Amino acid sequence: MEKKRRVYIQNFGCQMNDYDVERMVEILRAQGYAACASAEEADLVVLNSCAIREKSEHKVQSAAGRLKELKAARPGMVLAIAGCVAQQEGARLLKRVPTADFTFGPDQIPALPSLLARFSDGRRRFSATDVIDVEDYAFLDADPEPGDVKVTALVTIQKGCDNHCAYCIVPHTRGREVSRPADEVVAEVARFVALGAREVTLIGQNVNSYHAIGTPDGDDFAELLRRVDAVPGLVRLRYTTSHPKDFTEKVAEAHRDLRTMTSWLHLPVQSGSTRTLRRMVRGYTREEYLRKLEHARRLSPELSLSTDIIVGYPGETDAEFDETLSLLAEVEYDNIYSFGYSERPDTPALKLKLKDDVPAEVKDARLQQVQALQREITARRLGRFVGRTAEVLVEGASRSGAGQLCGRLSGNEMVNFGEPADPSRARALVGQLIPVRITATRAHTLVGELTGAPIALALASPPRRLKVVA
Ligand code: 5AD
Ligand code: SF4
Repeated sequence: MEKKRRVYIQNFGCQMNDYDVERMVEILRAQGYAACASAEEADLVVLNSCAIREKSEHKVQSAAGRLKELKAARPGMVLAIAGCVAQQEGARLLKRVPTADFTFGPDQIPALPSLLARFSDGRRRFSATDVIDVEDYAFLDADPEPGDVKVTALVTIQKGCDNHCAYCIVPHTRGREVSRPADEVVAEVARFVALGAREVTLIGQNVNSYHAIGTPDGDDFAELLRRVDAVPGLVRLRYTTSHPKDFTEKVAEAHRDLRTMTSWLHLPVQSGSTRTLRRMVRGYTREEYLRKLEHARRLSPELSLSTDIIVGYPGETDAEFDETLSLLAEVEYDNIYSFGYSERPDTPALKLKLKDDVPAEVKDARLQQVQALQREITARRLGRFVGRTAEVLVEGASRSGAGQLCGRLSGNEMVNFGEPADPSRARALVGQLIPVRITATRAHTLVGELTGAPIALALASPPRRLKVVA
């Protein structure tokens, strides 16, 4: 029998990229490739790049640089660069990365077999960055091997982005927004659940502007949540990423009302200053954002909130930055992701002539201030669980050490806890919703202990809140 070719994929970036890697693996499997764990064993290496900040872009270039000697030692090995940097830079990337054989953008993933054939025919380097027209775009259905399906699965509902946030390169790399037909989304969720997934995260750059149903009030995303919630066997439903300007009351109500909806809301604010938000072209004020959060929290008091923050945006004054600090103190997010502004090519900020004028030292100092404040808040927020028993959806072995299992609370908090001594019982817990007593906190996670038997899942039954139970 012919020996299987092996592919190693190294991924950078967001959940869209995670999802793309899964599809690449499936396409390559149909071409006779098996996934392997390191570049050293691989016949094909794919680096799936992210362009969101300059640092992300450098990461893929250094990863490619590190493969130089390996490539020289193994002349048959093929190196492809995929993802957002490949799309953004096109043929320029081939010049900058001499080890790369070809590059391709996200829209070219379905064409991967023909790209590989094209390279092996002529062994001439090329870059494939054609973008598929909105009308012709077809989503790839997930086709996972049963053994590859985890407790949690990603399902894409959208590609691209039609917003014009001035700092953001994504509309340029991922193109115009296209929504995936609701039937396809629901069928894919059902397929994952049939293969053992219990939690699904619906992903898109701006899920709140999903529009593929035509509901009378235009709130297609709330309707999509309702349809996915009805999939029998699904235990938990999440979504990311939201844009605050499109976050509706109906979606806030869905957190309160739907059987599977989790109590996690990621609502990137970027800045606490209305003036900065205006320069970012975000389309909401600090007050409008806070009103939406307050409403969502009133409906679901247990919500765990997370957000993204950019510091050192062009023209950000000390006073504007202080408003970001005061917003963090006021909201008390459970978790934040914070970044120093990084000027990116082809963004509206450049066209608006917004100069990257906050010095690097100031950006660093602001980042440290934001992170120090958030560390305190996160510790306090995690502390609220200590002494309580909460429902954990068990995901598998913990990274924190042998004999530990891990899983998440409805609010997305990771919990590590000791597994039962009997390994078969530990295995049987994976995918179950179990009560765990929370005993301590770590910087970003919780520690707990098992208290009892799995909770009988009332699948496809009336509303059932999956959150703290005592
Ligand atoms: N510089 C810094 N951070 C950025 N983000 C997006 N673009 C930039 C940029 N040019 C951040 C935003 C976004 C997250 C995914 O990355 O906070 O929500
Ligand atoms: Fe990075 Fe954005 Fe591309 Fe995701 S969509 S990989 S965050 S540039």
